[in-house]
Amino acid sequence: MRSVNREDGPVKVTGAARYAADHHPEGLAYGYLITSTVARGTILGMDTAPAERAPGVIAVYTPFNPLRLHPYTQADTAELLPPLQDDRVCYYGQVIGLVVAETFEQARDAAALVTTRYDAERPRASFTAGLPNATPPSGGTPETDVLAPGVTSIDEALAASDVSITETYTTPAETHVAMEPHATVASWTGDRLTVHTASQGVRLPVERLTESLGIDAAQIHVINPYVGGGFGNKWGTWAHTPLTAAAARALGRPVKTVLTREQVFTVIGHRPITSQTVSLGAAADGTLVAVKNDGISSKSAANDFYESVADLSLALYGSANLHVSRKVVTMDVPATTIMRAPAESNGSFALESAMDELADALGMDPLDLRLKNDTPSHPVSGLPWSSKHLEECYRVGAERFGWSRRSPRPGTVTDGDWLVGLGMATATFGASRGEASIEVRLRDDGRAVVSGAAADLGTGQSTVFAILAAEVLGIPVDRVTPVLGDSATPPAAKAGGSGSTSANGPAVRLAAEAAKEAVVKLAAEHEKSPFRGEAVTYADGEVRGGGDAMPFGELLALLGVPEVEVTATSPRHPRREHAFRSFGAHFCEVRVNRWTGEPRVARWLCVVDAGTIVNVKTARSQIAGGVVMGIGQALLEDLRIEPDTGRFGNATMADYLVPVNTDIPPIDVEFLNYPDTVLSDLGARGIGELSIVGAAGAVANAVHNATGRRVRDLPITLDKLL
Ligand code: MOS
Repeated sequence: MRSVNREDGPVKVTGAARYAADHHPEGLAYGYLITSTVARGTILGMDTAPAERAPGVIAVYTPFNPLRLHPYTQADTAELLPPLQDDRVCYYGQVIGLVVAETFEQARDAAALVTTRYDAERPRASFTAGLPNATPPSGGTPETDVLAPGVTSIDEALAASDVSITETYTTPAETHVAMEPHATVASWTGDRLTVHTASQGVRLPVERLTESLGIDAAQIHVINPYVGGGFGNKWGTWAHTPLTAAAARALGRPVKTVLTREQVFTVIGHRPITSQTVSLGAAADGTLVAVKNDGISSKSAANDFYESVADLSLALYGSANLHVSRKVVTMDVPATTIMRAPAESNGSFALESAMDELADALGMDPLDLRLKNDTPSHPVSGLPWSSKHLEECYRVGAERFGWSRRSPRPGTVTDGDWLVGLGMATATFGASRGEASIEVRLRDDGRAVVSGAAADLGTGQSTVFAILAAEVLGIPVDRVTPVLGDSATPPAAKAGGSGSTSANGPAVRLAAEAAKEAVVKLAAEHEKSPFRGEAVTYADGEVRGGGDAMPFGELLALLGVPEVEVTATSPRHPRREHAFRSFGAHFCEVRVNRWTGEPRVARWLCVVDAGTIVNVKTARSQIAGGVVMGIGQALLEDLRIEPDTGRFGNATMADYLVPVNTDIPPIDVEFLNYPDTVLSDLGARGIGELSIVGAAGAVANAVHNATGRRVRDLPITLDKLL
């Protein structure tokens, strides 16, 4: 497997990489958002006069002096309504104003002078209180049942099982806390708009700006090559982006709006709260015969996204009878949105905890239970997996981690004051190959430029472009310049759904092949070409023919052709005959202090079956990052909603806990690297999300093995272990 340094590493560590907020066009003014201080109600009035008189203030926009934005019609993971177009408030921290001033500090200070009067209503801010009124999601499928012939209900199948368990598992709201806060810089030249905005795909803001500003997509250019983390929170185009563009248009000068860290918590969406009641029924030998999961997700009144949290229970283990249901609790809270492995991460916490609880009830090793129920085909569709080596992940992981040293009796292994436990869980995430277009330019300086409107959120995607193009072109990786994050380049796959490399990789290779053909044709046909009329071939960066060879750059220079440019499109995989997933196995050791209840993760191993690994160095970091986020989910993260006010009680980086270095053990990652040749000739599936799936379940299972305590509500804080 290749291991290549990030092509963008030097510019990032030297501060030369310019993120969205680092752009300062000539004549720039600064926007600052005003946000609501009630969670539900009507704005009666806003006194903006003191702010308008404050030093440096250029404009104060509110629902009473709005920037006109057209309604959104295209689907987005952000809010349903554009900001400032009416006087309704539907969550605490909603954008209700924008102050524009000569400096950021002036805009911020003036925003503090605006007073707002509300007719406040009591918000729906308690998930628990809303549970009795949970409803099937509008437009969603309320239930899915797959029953064996002759079985009339899942409960009948459960009742007929030799052994069964039923438990309820809950997960709190979480937020992405990407290192880079959201920011938008908008400038107009005539009727053309240039935007720098943090985004997981620069064509996403183009769509939303097109409709909200009422202009053509061709008038909008979004440029944003560097993104400081995404995890789903930069997929949607949030309120500040059209607002900033509209302000720049109205004022006739560029405007930059940077969200404060606190604003990121509410102006940007969060992962929903979930509850899953899981029943598993098995034969005495461990064969699953019934899997039932009733899932409920919170949903904001501001948009439609919820987690279909039970659905993973239909896709992971074979069982003759399967049932899931989906319900939502609508709350007056900021938008609910996608966050790393939406639905599957929370879904796996319940399913993987329940699998261990079933193993206990059966008196079986939890790894053996999973091996027993590994399935060669999708449990619902019956389609064969394109490529699945999960059993090898389990076996390699067990051997390497020392699973045989796990005590089957919880609470029996100690090390001084620490109770020691081992846990494992299955990692998985859906895989696909979307359509992607890529442009390759071979230049007369011997370099290749590979362009597509993809995003590198820190994942290493730009380096994947360079590696794959260099390989096809037979040149060193450092002679390839990847260009990502520019909406004027061809529509490559955006950074979401673990689908960048699986879609863009084949497209880069196709485009590089086409570029080779184009330069060969040029060599054979151009009137000044020394290869004219020869049988021309291409190898190792050179054009060859008639016993001669010349690097493509020299040839282009000789011919006076500055560059050869081609664009290729790799189509979407129809996924008709196979089911596609990435798989893996997590193993961890957790130590719980017998006096304080403090849980510490001491060791981790993740064995990954995600098809071809293009760059093991960045892939390893992706997996480790997902494990870190999973440890945060297991032990720390908990976005608290005050039930009376609908306010997030811990919307700061000091109060919303995520893991720091000292919380994280050595993380060992092993890739099996079997190409998925059904998905593409490259054989790469996806790795962005699979590693968070199962991570919290593995921790919960290790905590149980250490202590005998089964914690079913995340996070597993020390108070739950005393
Ligand atoms: Mo990610 S939740 O696929 O943006």
